[in-house]
Amino acid sequence: MADLIELSEKLSAIRQEIKNEIAGIENSKAVYEYRKSIMDSKTGKIGSLMREMGKIPNEMKAEYGKKVNEIKVWAQEQFDELDTKLKEAEMRLRYETEKIDITLPAKMRPKGNLHPNTQVRNQIVDIFGSMGFQIYEGNEIETDYYNFTALNTPDDHPARDMQDTFYLSPEFLLRTQTSAGQIHVMEAQKPPIKIISPGKVFRSDDDATHSPMFSQMEGLVVDKGITLCDLQGMLNVFVQKIFGEDTRTRLRPSYFPFTEPSVEVDVSCFQCHGAGCKLCKGTGWIEVLGAGVVNKKVLEGCGIDSNEYSGIAFGIGIERIAMLKYGINNIKLLFESDLRVLDQIDD
Ligand code: PHE
Repeated sequence: MADLIELSEKLSAIRQEIKNEIAGIENSKAVYEYRKSIMDSKTGKIGSLMREMGKIPNEMKAEYGKKVNEIKVWAQEQFDELDTKLKEAEMRLRYETEKIDITLPAKMRPKGNLHPNTQVRNQIVDIFGSMGFQIYEGNEIETDYYNFTALNTPDDHPARDMQDTFYLSPEFLLRTQTSAGQIHVMEAQKPPIKIISPGKVFRSDDDATHSPMFSQMEGLVVDKGITLCDLQGMLNVFVQKIFGEDTRTRLRPSYFPFTEPSVEVDVSCFQCHGAGCKLCKGTGWIEVLGAGVVNKKVLEGCGIDSNEYSGIAFGIGIERIAMLKYGINNIKLLFESDLRVLDQIDD
């Protein structure tokens, strides 16, 4: 029994030591470390007591085990209690120091937005993209052949006067129309073809509604049995998405060398709904784009059999759509980068 008395004394000493020690502990990290030095099964003062079991005479083993267990449970409780207390205090301190003053006015960050031309271009791309059109990016510098000749506009053709061209050399020019891309596409690809081609075009022209550089969106569909009805169907979807569900289109005869028949497409006035207003000059209709059935000569020139295939094409002026849609009366406002104007347009 002498051994058990000795053990009791040893345990009381450990108990006292733990009480003294934890009274001075101030943070949870120190609790963790001290707990380890006591409870570790190999090196800890209490943890290692169980390893002594082998040396204890058999008849005392049960009592020994009980006592060691008691102090183990007790110590565990002491550490847990202290740990919870300190962790709570540490958390409170953290909350205190990390407090945010929600009454402070927020820092204003100026928000940018896409340029109206880009917004309109993206909208048009989305609309035709949803109808299965693919995007073709043409060249801004073109040859006379692609911009004119292949589009049924030979040298002496009067239609060349419709567009004042910037020539770079007798052969090269800044494209006057994205229609030049039609030829590249039809040369490279056999029908079915269904593309849109956005890009900059250039003409020596300058007034409130014309700029020497502006943007167009070409559309081209070539397949078996394509007619003017397909064109109007697609353009109806386009104007309804851009100008409102209740808008309609109207086709008027026009002339382009590369389409036959050619049409000028009007949209019903989305401001007065046909009653007549300043925007539609009292007519109830606004001209929005040029289009037509692809001229057979153009198809044949690109090696497409015009008896088997037919096509439609259209050319949308992106600035014109942006001006109509956002009520901008001078095209220059779209090129001057005045934030007071641009900030107002964010669709
Ligand atoms: N390229 C013509 C223009 O710029 C528009 C157009 C495109 C007309 C396609 C018919 C077909 O005026």
